[in-house]
Amino acid sequence: MKKISCLIISVMILVMSGCAALPQSARTGPVQNGQNEQTVQDQVPSAENGEQLSEETLRALFEKHGMKAGTCVSSMVIENPAMEKLILEQFDSVTMENAMKPDAVINREKSRKEGKIVVEYGNDAKKVLNWAKENGMKMRGHTLVWYSQTPEWIFHEDFDETKGFVDREEMLVRMEDLIRGNFEQIDELGCSDLFYAYDVVNEGWMENGIMRRNHWSEIIGDDYMWYAFYYADKYAPEETDLYYNDYNEQFKADAICKFVQTLTDEDGRYLIDGIGLQAHFFTADDLNGYLKAVDRLSETGLKLELTELDVGLGKYQAPLKATDENLNKQGQFYYELINGLFERADAGKIDMDAITFWGFTDLISWRKEYSPQLFDSLFAEKPAYYGVMQIKEKAGFEEEQ
Ligand code: GLA
Repeated sequence: MKKISCLIISVMILVMSGCAALPQSARTGPVQNGQNEQTVQDQVPSAENGEQLSEETLRALFEKHGMKAGTCVSSMVIENPAMEKLILEQFDSVTMENAMKPDAVINREKSRKEGKIVVEYGNDAKKVLNWAKENGMKMRGHTLVWYSQTPEWIFHEDFDETKGFVDREEMLVRMEDLIRGNFEQIDELGCSDLFYAYDVVNEGWMENGIMRRNHWSEIIGDDYMWYAFYYADKYAPEETDLYYNDYNEQFKADAICKFVQTLTDEDGRYLIDGIGLQAHFFTADDLNGYLKAVDRLSETGLKLELTELDVGLGKYQAPLKATDENLNKQGQFYYELINGLFERADAGKIDMDAITFWGFTDLISWRKEYSPQLFDSLFAEKPAYYGVMQIKEKAGFEEEQ
């Protein structure tokens, strides 16, 4: 591991923050079968000395396999020179960690005044968009319809949470305004062409195969996700792929496979382009089982992306310490996962155009207690980094005798 040599100590608070082949895609032509509020951090390494981290970078390696390498960001992250430098070296795609979620983009005052949902991006989102544009970064949009980080008041009469829920018709109008408003904002800001992918619905299914109950389903009904894709398809730029995104996807694969087959228009064409696999792992997880789920989801003929990848040490609610042994296990996990995906993509078995990590340094990870990222808190490369880079001898494997 190389350490970045010189540190300026600063105290700062970062606010980051069996599936059958499907019909034709309405968006991309015929289907080819084939809460975090955020972390207080203490010491942030400074800029000036980020050496070249490795002869090759994530983005260069991923490009060889037809993929973009992504990370989530906030404006605070890109305004930190050391972090910005690392991101620009290693990644060619970004997702806003929070700034494009419904609670960040719906303007309450204007919505109340106009009696309809008004979308207006805040400074955080605008800064990241401008930065992405200036630096040739591609973007994933995240997210339009979700049960979480969505203001309660948008579901109520007069946008007043002390009143009752609106009816189905009104909620559909609000959903359409929310979705249209987002794509209009992006267009007005001159950034439509940055977005190659957009999460239309986040986390709609439960592990037991049952649709998650939330305000959207309660008011609109079980077809709320169909409407979300219908409106997204209506307003999104043609070049933006529309995604259904979920976590614990390995346990939800059957439900998701069945569900996406319903996302077609009256001509039987897809309203969706891809399935986003959040990929929040633990080192104790069953990787082979996961790759089987990837194969199964790929049978839908849709694109697949890993959208929020991180691999925590240990298991849920039982984090392990960042000892050499555990970090080596993590390196091996990342190696095997990425290897399995590269093999499948290279053989044309999956259509995967990007893998996005949910962060890059343990310093500000939303799961920092599990040390899940590729770089440690001082931005040094972990075995995890080398695992992703497919450099087996540095990825924590036993020396071969
Ligand atoms: C989900 C969401 C992300 C993020 C993470 C954890 O995975 O999709 O936007 O909020 O939870 O914070």
